[in-house]
Amino acid sequence: MATMAEVARHAGVSVATVSHVLNETRRVLPHTRRAVLDAVEALGYTPNTLARSLVTSRTRSIGLAVSAISNPYFTEILQGVEARALEHGYGLLIADPHDDPEQECKAVRLLHERRVDGVIVAPSADPRGLLALLARHSVPTVFLDRLIEEERAGAAFRFDQVCAENTAPMARLVSHLAGAGHRRIALVAGLPGLSTTTERIDGYRQGLVAAGLPHDERLVTGGDSAAEGAERATAALLSLADPPTALVTANNAMTIGALRALRERGLSVPDDLALCCFDDFAWADLFAPRLTAISQPSREIGARAVQLLLDRLDAPDRPSRTERLPCTFVHRTSCGCPDTLSRKGTAL
Ligand code: HPA
Repeated sequence: MATMAEVARHAGVSVATVSHVLNETRRVLPHTRRAVLDAVEALGYTPNTLARSLVTSRTRSIGLAVSAISNPYFTEILQGVEARALEHGYGLLIADPHDDPEQECKAVRLLHERRVDGVIVAPSADPRGLLALLARHSVPTVFLDRLIEEERAGAAFRFDQVCAENTAPMARLVSHLAGAGHRRIALVAGLPGLSTTTERIDGYRQGLVAAGLPHDERLVTGGDSAAEGAERATAALLSLADPPTALVTANNAMTIGALRALRERGLSVPDDLALCCFDDFAWADLFAPRLTAISQPSREIGARAVQLLLDRLDAPDRPSRTERLPCTFVHRTSCGCPDTLSRKGTAL
C-alpha cells in the first residue's frame, strides 16, 4: 500500500504539502495540488483516516442512536442522515437502543469512545442518564424526533433539536373525522414520557375543542407506541359500552396493531370504524383500506439533524436551535370519505 511519503516523492513536494492538499487544511497552489492528486491517482494511495484523526482530533464520523431502526419512519430518517453526512464527507456509526434508557447510555458511550465528532439521538422516554453522560463529556449533540426541555439538560450543555410538527397535524385528523359527522373519536396514543406522545394527545384534544366535541377520557388509550400495545388498546375501546365510531392512531406501528384488532373482530374500515393515522406508509395507498394519514418529513428531519450538528461543530458556542418541520395531510378513504375526494397531499 502506498504511503504519504511515496506520494510526496512522486509529486516532488513535502509530506506536509500532501497532507494540506488531502485535508484541505491550507491553500496550495493549483499546479502543486494537481501534482499531488495525480500522484495519489498513480500510486493508488488511500488516506489512513485513523492516522489523520490523531493529528486533527476529528474522525469525520457521526454517531446515530435511534430506537426501532426497522420502523420505516426511522429508516427514512436514517436515509436522510446518511445522505447529508456523506455529502459532507462524514461516515456514520449506528446504534439502536430499543427505547431502553440503560442501553441508550451504553450505545452513546460506545459512540463517544469511538470518538465520533458528535451524536444524533432520538432520546428515550427517560433520558436522564443520557443527558448526564452527554453533558459530562461535552459531546456535540442533536436530538431528533423527541424533544428535551433545555432546563433538563443543565445550563452549560448546549444542544440542537429537530422534529416534525405534532399538535396541529393531529388536530387536523380529529377535525377531519368530526367534519364527517363523528362524535365519538378515540385515540390510541404512544409511550408516556415522549414529547411526541404528549404533543399528539394535545393535538387530539385541540381537535375535539375546535369541533365542539366533549372530551371523554375513556376514549384516550395508551398503545405504547407499538403494534401489540395498540392491538390491546383498540380491543379495549371496541369493548366499551358506547364504543367509538372513529379512531386515530398516533404512529405507524400502532396503526398495524389497530388493524389487527379490527380484523380479529371481523370489523372493516371505514364501514364499521373510520380510521386516520399519524405516519404514512409506502404501501398505505395500495391495500384496503387506503389510509388517510399524516405524512412526516422523515428524510428531511434526518438531513436537518446532520446540518445542525455540522453547524455546532463549526461554532460550539452558538445559541441552541429547535427546528420543527411541517407535515402533510394525505387524504384517502379509511376516514370514510369517497375516493373522489382523496388527494395526493396537503401541506399543513
Ligand atoms: N416518533 C414519531 N413518529 C413515529 C415514531 C416515533 O417514535 N414511531 C413511528 N412514528
